[in-house]
Amino acid sequence: MSDFHSARGSFPASRMRRLRRWDWTRNLTRENQLTVDDLIWPLFILPGTNQTEPIASMPGVARHSIDRIVALATEAVQLGIPAIAIFPVTPSDVKTPDGEEAFNPNNLICEATRAIRQAVGDRLGIICDVALDPYTSHGQDGLLRNNYVVNDETVSVLCKQAVNQAQAGCDCIAPSDMMDGRVGAIRQALDKAGFDHVTILSYAAKYASAFYGPFRDAVGSAKNLSGDKKTYQMDPANTDEAIHEVTLDLQEGADMVMVKPGMPYLDIVRRLHDQFHVPIAVYQVSGEYAMLKAASERGWLDEKKVVLESLLCMKRAGASAILTYFAYDVAKWLSAREV
Ligand code: PBG
Repeated sequence: MSDFHSARGSFPASRMRRLRRWDWTRNLTRENQLTVDDLIWPLFILPGTNQTEPIASMPGVARHSIDRIVALATEAVQLGIPAIAIFPVTPSDVKTPDGEEAFNPNNLICEATRAIRQAVGDRLGIICDVALDPYTSHGQDGLLRNNYVVNDETVSVLCKQAVNQAQAGCDCIAPSDMMDGRVGAIRQALDKAGFDHVTILSYAAKYASAFYGPFRDAVGSAKNLSGDKKTYQMDPANTDEAIHEVTLDLQEGADMVMVKPGMPYLDIVRRLHDQFHVPIAVYQVSGEYAMLKAASERGWLDEKKVVLESLLCMKRAGASAILTYFAYDVAKWLSAREV
């Protein structure tokens, strides 16, 4: 018998249910807690003004034009949400095989970043995704040569994209592309351009997951995407490989690392948390949102309870930040509970 058990004694001296009996005992002994400080809110941006388009596969989530995104960002500040992650919906006539729009200083994400920054100042983190999929006509995250996403040439374009976004006022660059060596190259490019204060949140353990389906609808990359992303995103079967990915990204200068998707991958979060003492973000992705939402809409699940539980489980696994499309609702629910 372990020391733990012999020190505590066994049943009937020890009764686990004693501390579960009252709210006060449960509150005092709770090991993890979800707070608004944990949340990052992903938002989809449309061109134009006064535009809102619902996303069929993500009920309750919409694409918004910049003026409306600014209003939502202001609400996020009021609710105490620390940061937003913004994704552009690029019109298809702007997309090209090599995605040059990614480093246009007046592209949608840069315009949005400037407008949000002007409205909220330093009170909200603005996280910009780095990857070419919003801009390439083929929907891949990098440059296609002979039907293969090439690494090093893509990395040099990603560096231009990152510097462009930093120039627009973005606080945090989040490379979601999974090219090798991109974190180090982006760090160097940012430093050289005078952005040594801009953080890098690396999508370090990003799996080739079917749970991204609704996101690809949301940004309009699904209809163009031929093939899959298995030559750069990770195989869902692997765990050791995540350790290797994170080791490399930290060596290259990542400030925070991400695991994506969330709920089916919490074993990865736990393993990384035990091994590396760095902040870990987890992404509750579009497909997870869609599942919880669809079952709740049918009355099969209690939405508020399952959402709060799913996010708490991410904390328990070791995440310190959670990207979730429920961030706005969760911030409201949590603040209502506190009063
Ligand atoms: C693209 C990107 C994806 C997501 C974030 N950035 C999709 C993909 O890799 O195809 C997915 C987010 C989600 O599903 O909520 N680089």
